Amino acid sequence: MGKKIAVLPGDGIGPEITAQAVRVIDALGLGISMAEAPVGGAGYDAAGDPLPAATLALCEASDAILFGAVGGPKYDALPRPMRPEQGLLRLRKHFDLYANLRPAIVYPELAHASSLKAEVVAGLDLLILRELTGDIYFGQPRGVRTNEAGEREGFDTMRYTESEIRRIAKTAFEAARKRSRRVCSVDKANVLETTQFWRDVVIDVHKDFTDIELSHMYVDNAAMQLVRNPKQFDVIVTGNMFGDILSDEASMLTGSIGMLPSASLNAKSFGMYEPIHGSAPDITGKGIANPLATILSAAMLLRYSLGEEAAAGRIEAAVRKVLAQGYRTADITEPGCRQVGTVAMGDAVLAAL
Ligand code: IPM
Ligand code: MG
Repeated sequence: MGKKIAVLPGDGIGPEITAQAVRVIDALGLGISMAEAPVGGAGYDAAGDPLPAATLALCEASDAILFGAVGGPKYDALPRPMRPEQGLLRLRKHFDLYANLRPAIVYPELAHASSLKAEVVAGLDLLILRELTGDIYFGQPRGVRTNEAGEREGFDTMRYTESEIRRIAKTAFEAARKRSRRVCSVDKANVLETTQFWRDVVIDVHKDFTDIELSHMYVDNAAMQLVRNPKQFDVIVTGNMFGDILSDEASMLTGSIGMLPSASLNAKSFGMYEPIHGSAPDITGKGIANPLATILSAAMLLRYSLGEEAAAGRIEAAVRKVLAQGYRTADITEPGCRQVGTVAMGDAVLAAL
């Protein structure tokens, strides 16, 4: 039976960039069917819920999810359960998408676009593996209350169970086996109980992966090392909140946040695939957004959820080719390049396929 992809464009530039990824998947001629549904602010507008029941049902009936971006100023004043981001967080939790792969690769043509010196980032190939369904993002209790002294206070709970840490550590060691066999686990074990426990469990899981080199780093140092000497890292594995922050930092090493794809997988390799950038309200509707992160996310989708390794490789080769041909969107523009908009970049990738 043909495979099915649920396409959730979301808000802002989401519809513009997912449209290009859909064209690329179609052009591969794999007989994949795709159906769209609203999520985030678009879900709220359509059905009063950032994750409408019909959207969730479409995802349930599909083999993978291609996700655009959610959020926008229009929705900032909504109560938290109705905020666009909740659509994303609920999808992650519902499908138990605990393993978030955020590769940061520096393409030779874009090394100059990084805010760091080209020699610091040239050749960088780093994988940030972020745990995505635990930590302070989901820990209970949380809220705002009046404490015993009669003062209002806000609180969240950082927590990780042993099984949650074990499975992400295992994913990290397995990913490292296909790369340079080095894992750096990032924590704050000098201060936080939860992350001392994280470190202890990672060390225990490592006993089954003695061919992999394991190191540990405090998150503040890791933030510093990422801009000092990012090439020291192969795989970084970390919790939900530290991973959120470090992956934004790592994206800037590559020149543009518009280049970075991601995959969020569960134990059955069902996954949601999305660019790591947001909905970019400032450039929405201008036709200038960079669709490459979404197109590269489609490649990850084909590889990890549909088992189409060859097709994934074709997309990645096409992206390398358009960069070599000088095509650039506004975020990665340079003198003498062929500056194009969103659709023309999609055209260039299709031509290069
Ligand atoms: C990300 C985003 C999300 C997160 C937001 C939109 C909820 O920043 O995917 O990194 O914090 O996980
Ligand atoms: Mg983030």
